[in-house]
Amino acid sequence: MPKLINAETGEAKEIKEGSEIREVIEKLGVPFGCEEGICGTCMIDVLEGESNLSELTEQEKDLMRDKKHRLACQCKIKKGEVKFRIS
Ligand code: FES
Repeated sequence: MPKLINAETGEAKEIKEGSEIREVIEKLGVPFGCEEGICGTCMIDVLEGESNLSELTEQEKDLMRDKKHRLACQCKIKKGEVKFRIS
């Protein structure tokens, strides 16, 4: 099963393949605001496994995000592990 890892705390949680990461990554400490890709509260730096996440959304492009700097409310996990830290 895919896994999200908070690089700062070392805490990890399994997550269902193909699912949005929002609910699980919130439990790992990432704060959320609008949940629609507008406010930027949920910014994360992806340290490893960026190719295991879904493609950038238009909202992320509008906020100048890239594959290593995502909005957690916009990401789904495809497979594997993703190691992140809060931006
Ligand atoms: S929670 Fe507002 S951009 Fe993700």
